[in-house]
Amino acid sequence: MRLAFALLCIGVASCRGEDEPVEWNGPFDSEIPLRAPVDRNPDPKVLEVDLEARIAEVEIVPGKKTKMWTYDGGVPGPLLRAKVGDTLVVHFKNSLPEATSIHWHGLRVPAAMDGNGMPSIPPGGTFEYRFTLPDAGTFWYHPHVNSAAQLGFGLYGALVVDEPGVPLVADESTVVLSDASIDDDGVLVDAKSGGAIADLFGREGAWILVNGKVRPTLHGHAGVPLRLRLINAARSRYFQLKLDDHVFTTIGGDGGLRETPRTGAVLLLAPGERYDVVVVPRNAPNSTAKMMWVPFERGFGTAFARDPELVMSLAIDGRKAVTAPALPARLRTIAPVDPAGAKLQRIELTQTTDAAKTTTLGINGKAFPDAMPVMAKVGETNVWEIVNTTDAHHPFHLHGFFFQVLDAAGAPLTSEWKDTLDIPKKESRKVVVRYDDRPGMWMFHCHILDHAELGMMGMLELTP
Ligand code: C2O
Ligand code: CU
Repeated sequence: MRLAFALLCIGVASCRGEDEPVEWNGPFDSEIPLRAPVDRNPDPKVLEVDLEARIAEVEIVPGKKTKMWTYDGGVPGPLLRAKVGDTLVVHFKNSLPEATSIHWHGLRVPAAMDGNGMPSIPPGGTFEYRFTLPDAGTFWYHPHVNSAAQLGFGLYGALVVDEPGVPLVADESTVVLSDASIDDDGVLVDAKSGGAIADLFGREGAWILVNGKVRPTLHGHAGVPLRLRLINAARSRYFQLKLDDHVFTTIGGDGGLRETPRTGAVLLLAPGERYDVVVVPRNAPNSTAKMMWVPFERGFGTAFARDPELVMSLAIDGRKAVTAPALPARLRTIAPVDPAGAKLQRIELTQTTDAAKTTTLGINGKAFPDAMPVMAKVGETNVWEIVNTTDAHHPFHLHGFFFQVLDAAGAPLTSEWKDTLDIPKKESRKVVVRYDDRPGMWMFHCHILDHAELGMMGMLELTP
């Protein structure tokens, strides 16, 4: 019987008796589920949820319970998902032992809803966030009070706003990358461990997390494309990623889809950045590819003597490879923001040491909140020249507005909208931004949050 079966199967790869290929039939991302919140509002155009920041026991390190700081009891927080034009209402309660806020990273919301921490929400306090979602894209939320510590302890979550129409790729997942510092007993390491030097380096947790999981596996079929909405929610870690034998086709970033897909073997996400990528599993059936974190030298020897680390695996089942349908050559049209006649706002990212030998990071030589605010008016177009005078990279983030990066000739790159941009050491970048009608105080800062907390943060005062 066994022999007959074997003979019948000669030459048929998918028919191997005892070694019968395993076929994966579940969702490809079943090991990294994100929780969905309960929508209290029957109106399909309104997502209305309760969200509580509280300390809860979570298993991060396998076999150990850790008291993390959570949104609704898990890390990351629930995935908030809606469509362009929908309204989001969040009834927030702070049950943490200290003040907090929720900043909606990348969302063009009114200044009063931006959650920049001024004012903050005290322990036991509540706040109702309510705004519409004007743009499709991959966004996220996190505290803006004592942010390096609070993010590092687990407070962050994803927010996805879907573009209208059919999804570009059927198999899609939101993937929140982060890290955590947890000791051998399963206890969170003090947020200030390592002192002033660690503030300057920016603290990286030893446990790399993918939706709160350590080294999970994605399950794919050869040839069937997977869309990953990647978010770097780490307080300091850059994620430079490689996937064995594969390329990443980037279809979107901070501000939704790109104009055209771009393919590369290496993907770099600075803290705060998002990349929406398509991966087509092309390794042999029944094999596994490893997605590795590759050390990235962001200054001060931050990559020195460090080895690549496994972030997650991609296991391919035994199904015969299929041919992936091609992505559209053009995903979207992005109109350029014309920088002609724009006011120039020049800011320096600085590191200074005072007479008492205390080193600090700041904007224009001043630690937050001492730098003069950048002044601008609603409706204006500004070119920001961001000059990094230090010996380390800093990912620059502006709240509330998207910008376009200017090329060397001063022309706006319409390839994508950004809200977070890595500024390499001793280099500068120019970006162009047009302010729509949302006056108020808007923060900008380095998204290495230890740096922001040291003082590399400033304000844009936008007046009517
Ligand atoms: Cu994610 Cu002030 O930023
Ligand atoms: Cu920085």
